[in-house]
Amino acid sequence: MRPYTGPADLRLMQELVQRTWSHRSQWHIGDLAWQRFQHLGREPEWPTALWERDGRVVAWGWLHAPGSLSLLVDPEAPELVAEVLAWADPSEVEVLDGAEHVITGLVAGGFHRVDAPSFQYLARSLVELPAAVAPPGFTLAPVGDVAARVACHRSVWHPSRVTEDSYRQVMAAWPYRAELDWTAVAADGTVAAQCLIWPDEVNRVGELEPVGTVARYRRLGLGRAVCLAALHALRDTGAVEAVVYPITDEAKAFYRDLGFRGYAETRTYRKSSGEQGGPERE
Ligand SMILES: CC(C)(COP(=O)(O)OP(=O)(O)OC[C@H]1O[C@@H](n2cnc3c(N)ncnc32)[C@H](O)[C@@H]1OP(=O)(O)O)[C@@H](O)C(=O)NCCC(=O)NCCS
Repeated sequence: MRPYTGPADLRLMQELVQRTWSHRSQWHIGDLAWQRFQHLGREPEWPTALWERDGRVVAWGWLHAPGSLSLLVDPEAPELVAEVLAWADPSEVEVLDGAEHVITGLVAGGFHRVDAPSFQYLARSLVELPAAVAPPGFTLAPVGDVAARVACHRSVWHPSRVTEDSYRQVMAAWPYRAELDWTAVAADGTVAAQCLIWPDEVNRVGELEPVGTVARYRRLGLGRAVCLAALHALRDTGAVEAVVYPITDEAKAFYRDLGFRGYAETRTYRKSSGEQGGPERE
């Protein structure tokens, strides 16, 4: 095990994500880029460690809030789940239901499942995509005016720590591609809606993150149009599938309307008090 030393290590963590990606995977390479870089100066807040074998990363752990661990362990090295848990000593872990080796390790380590809001993992084939049609008065285009793009994000996710500088940091991160960062622009130049897709060219799967429509422009068809425009651009890169992980009922309904269907869900595990290695409680 060794501690994270900087963005070159993030690339190694992403390589493990890409090498092991499947519908059982909690992470897409875009998640790591977006979550690490959407805000400036956050990396020192997050204890992060990597486990390597034969010159490649086989597990990583990331304490992204006190006691709250994100981890990825190569399913070929399931014994490392216990090592990551011993390093992090978390109180809470969110895991995808398909990551059986992680769940087994959590239960063996004295964690039990608790009720908590869950992210639903949805996927859509890119074989048949409806046309992207902008509502009258709006134009669909890849990101142009970064300040207007950031203003859209800050309005959708108010209060937000995303700034123009932090967004430029995102744009510089692998595997960001500006031609997959789409906007719906009003006549006055306001970015009313946006959809950023992160490509994974090895697995031919793109991840939508983030997506948003400014509140006063909702239910006009802008979210649908901007996502479809980005999905067409994703298909042009050779991708065959898109994934997205909504948590709210509104967002789930929006993606279902766009043709996405569920394939997995997150579960939350907490450390059992005074009980080690007991059976999983549902
Ligand atoms: C989810 C969101 C992007 C939808 O954007 P939008 O521009 O309003 O969506 P559209 O107008 O294109 O909606 C297309 C269809 O999606 C569905 N839909 C959209 N918003 C919905 C809602 N709040 N409740 C239920 N269904 C909804 C409807 O079927 C809608 O068609 P209809 O208006 O003809 O009924 C927007 O509400 C938003 O930015 N929310 C906050 C941020 C967010 O949750 N982003 C997604 C995170 S993964």
